[in-house]
Amino acid sequence: MTKIIAIANQKGGVGKTTTAINLATAMAAIEKKILLIDADPQSNASTGLGLLEEDRNPSLYNLLTDKKFNPNSIKETKIPYLNIIASTIDLAASEIELAEMDDRENIMKNILNKIAGYDYLFIDCPPALGLLTINSLVASDSVIIPLQCEFFALEGLSSLISTIETIKSTLNPQIQIEGIVLTMYDKRNSLSALVEEDVRGHFGKKVYKTVIPRNVRISEAPSHGKPVLIYDTSCVGSVAYIGLAKEVIFNQE
Ligand SMILES: Nc1ncnc2c1ncn2[C@@H]1O[C@H](COP(=O)(O)OP(=O)(O)OP(=O)(O)O)[C@@H](O)[C@H]1O
Ligand SMILES: [Mg+2]
Repeated sequence: MTKIIAIANQKGGVGKTTTAINLATAMAAIEKKILLIDADPQSNASTGLGLLEEDRNPSLYNLLTDKKFNPNSIKETKIPYLNIIASTIDLAASEIELAEMDDRENIMKNILNKIAGYDYLFIDCPPALGLLTINSLVASDSVIIPLQCEFFALEGLSSLISTIETIKSTLNPQIQIEGIVLTMYDKRNSLSALVEEDVRGHFGKKVYKTVIPRNVRISEAPSHGKPVLIYDTSCVGSVAYIGLAKEVIFNQE
């Protein structure tokens, strides 16, 4: 059985891609077979995993346009057990192209249904609630929501949750919120603690115990085309993502 988890929050820069890359890497490290789907035209997950531009095709854009899975779209990364379907800037056009298709919310689901042999598929969503994110949510069993520990953290969360509820009542009855992960936590800043208290007060057990700290090694790693877990295995950021992976796996078992 493959579990499909979307990493989503329409707010930009909250740690979606960092979480997708490092959760995927932490799970691959314990030999879970992982496929990361880069569903963001910014292609940060593809770049962060070191995929060269010329090695990205056929990309997710081609699959969505053809409405068909193509096994050649699955690319190996340098990390054993971690493969990727990459994104290119072309994917930006998908928002418009999908809008004109029949059954436009189900295109990604129909493609991902053809993929077998993985323990987890993670979908790195773009910072918008457009058709790429809707397609990702319709295709997924659950959603992980990264929340940045800052003043406006909860702003916009209600529209994400109501989008998930709408999808649950229409296109994908099985979708659940897998969990909320607090990111970029700064223990020297009392605001982080206040945001944490607020989010835990609202969402209780849905919030992972593991909190991802603000860590310079995490922000350096993508420019080396590596997950932080490979770039600096023992830094606090890596340790946190290993903790998060344990929680996500433990929740299933
Ligand atoms: N825990 C962290 N500590 C320090 N920097 C971080 C941390 N998490 C993410 N960053 C940095 O913050 C920026 C935004 O992170 P990321 O790209 O993961 O967010 P995102 O939600 O995917 O953004 P977008 O909405 O644009 O897709 C990146 O430069 C990333 O390296
Ligand atoms: Mg991103």
